[in-house]
Amino acid sequence: IKKVPLFARLNEHQQDALAQICTRRSFKGNTVLFSEKDTGNVFYMVVSGSVKIFTTGSSGEEKILSICKSGESFGELSLIDGKPRSASAQTLEDCVLLSMTAQNFLDLLRNHFDITLVIMQELSHRLRDTNQQVYDLTFLDARTRVIKSLITMANKHGIRSGHTITIKLVLNFDEISQLAGVQKTTLMQVIRDLEEKQILAISPSDFKLDLAKLR
Ligand code: CMP
Repeated sequence: IKKVPLFARLNEHQQDALAQICTRRSFKGNTVLFSEKDTGNVFYMVVSGSVKIFTTGSSGEEKILSICKSGESFGELSLIDGKPRSASAQTLEDCVLLSMTAQNFLDLLRNHFDITLVIMQELSHRLRDTNQQVYDLTFLDARTRVIKSLITMANKHGIRSGHTITIKLVLNFDEISQLAGVQKTTLMQVIRDLEEKQILAISPSDFKLDLAKLR
């Protein structure tokens, strides 16, 4: 509970009470937690690992909307508006998650305005992020979208050492193309070009980027 920023403002007694109503579970990588259009009845918080939130096109192709890492939460929308799940959720690697029933989640929002405010800030952040994705998909070409996605991944998940940023490869190439909203062939073309220009180096477990050159 202490690792989840959502609950940081609660005192120790409240955090202990919350621990009683949360369930802690481990999941293997690639586990589907729920699918778009399912009935929503659980709220999730990530303790460790990462979860992809995605939507699926009519021929099965996926678009990743966001990646939830340790301390982040998901699955609140359908509990708040009572409509089906707005997207699917699947673990990208082995994960430990806390979950809470819809009833407990809604009671928590009713009783703790601090927590409601953090949820509202999170929803505002997601709307801004979605606006940015609409902009990128409408106005940027595919190559620029790949480069932007690499910069975002580097800023969010990279470890810096001088000019070089190392990003652990939790996402495979299919998933990176789903994040950028491009065909995999386009992604591979851009990556090959960046490798030739010595801006990017790929190994089986990670890739290294020269962020200044990439920008
Ligand atoms: P819910 O609709 O219950 O189930 C899917 C969850 O994915 C949703 O709640 C949000 O928590 C999350 N989600 C949906 N759309 C986005 C988005 N555009 N960006 C980030 N998270 C999202």
